[in-house]
Amino acid sequence: MNGNSDLEKRIAWWRDAKFGMFIHWGLYALPAGEWKGKYYDGIGEWIMFKARIPVAEYEALAAEFNPVGFDADAWAQLAQEAGMKYMIITSKHHDGFAMFASEVSKFNIVDATPFRRDPVKELSEACAKRDIKFGVYYSQAQDWHEPGAAIWDVPHEGVARWEEQVWDTQQQGDFDEYLDSKAIPQVKELLSNYGPLGVIWLDTPLDAMTIERAGRLERAIHDLQPEALVSGRIGGEHQADYDSEGDNRIPNAVRPGDWETPATINDTWGFKKHDHNWKQPDDVVFKLVDIVSKGGNYLLNVGPDASGVIPDPSRTVLREVGKWIQKNGDAVYGAGPTPLGDELNVPEGPRYRLTTTGNRIFVHLFEWDDTSIVLKGIRRQASRAHALIDDKMTFQVSNNGDDISIELPAGYAESKLATVICLEL
Ligand code: GLC
Repeated sequence: MNGNSDLEKRIAWWRDAKFGMFIHWGLYALPAGEWKGKYYDGIGEWIMFKARIPVAEYEALAAEFNPVGFDADAWAQLAQEAGMKYMIITSKHHDGFAMFASEVSKFNIVDATPFRRDPVKELSEACAKRDIKFGVYYSQAQDWHEPGAAIWDVPHEGVARWEEQVWDTQQQGDFDEYLDSKAIPQVKELLSNYGPLGVIWLDTPLDAMTIERAGRLERAIHDLQPEALVSGRIGGEHQADYDSEGDNRIPNAVRPGDWETPATINDTWGFKKHDHNWKQPDDVVFKLVDIVSKGGNYLLNVGPDASGVIPDPSRTVLREVGKWIQKNGDAVYGAGPTPLGDELNVPEGPRYRLTTTGNRIFVHLFEWDDTSIVLKGIRRQASRAHALIDDKMTFQVSNNGDDISIELPAGYAESKLATVICLEL
């Protein structure tokens, strides 16, 4: 089902990586949430849908798109400094615009804009130089530019079926014609022209992506690159290689299997000029550790603006997070989930998470006072406990039957983001 090479081997790098950079960048960065003087709530890359912009009007944005500030090396360098081990960029979002050189459709950044460069190519090369796995997001079913493609099917204004969702007659047509003449051929272009791709990240399959159609798409991917991972939203209950949680959704317990939380760093994927609700470093570190302690990966998004620049506040946050990971990465990369789980819903008292690697348990402390933590039912014996980043900074630990307790000195905190205690078992 999952491609033609053993999944355990193919997914090993992804299970180790834990933390990736998502990038939503396209024509929607120009309106940046506003159209004809009206600012639209919600995620910025949906502006064409929200404002029901006619196809020809939206297409005209391409002539204005000239992101001369784009610097692939700077973006890959930021991912590296943030401790992000893979990068996934929108190669074609729901608006149908390809951010790569495509022979399949001239509605792309090389042919339709004054910029004339291929950011997907430049980023794939910049990532390869830094040993960052590179992947692409592709909206396989929705395409508001193409005849016959799907359009979001949430019933609204009394309309219940996506075929009736069209707002421009240019969008009418046959879905299989769209899938076979644009979506699958463009995915093949991506898998043929940009080197080995770590992930093909698919999205909003809607009911258009039947098992048969999803199967055709998955085979097209793995026929060209058996090693590429296919993310969860391929559709049609078709087995992807790993599952995508809902947007910004973190399960409240350990979740078995391979899964990833895609998340925004403010409240939008694509750039919006008025969205300054940036997550802070402590929140990002907590979310990363919380997700890893439940068995998942954290795919955190940046939304570059129309000049090709990643907003400065998000760069600052990512660099802060990267400094913490630089010192505490052993407790994150390749780490397994908590062996317990009681700590996940502790309403008060010390707030901590557990991750594991071999014969070590990492206790990530977020809030605590001069108290102790009891790992009840751990059923393993600890030989010593020390700050992960300072072997000489030891903590009093005692084994009591199935439990391990750790004394926490008040006032000790190696980092305002999270202090990690390494329990040697
Ligand atoms: C939702 C949105 C899409 C975004 C994706 C990220 O599917 O429709 O705009 O790219 O979430 O996970």
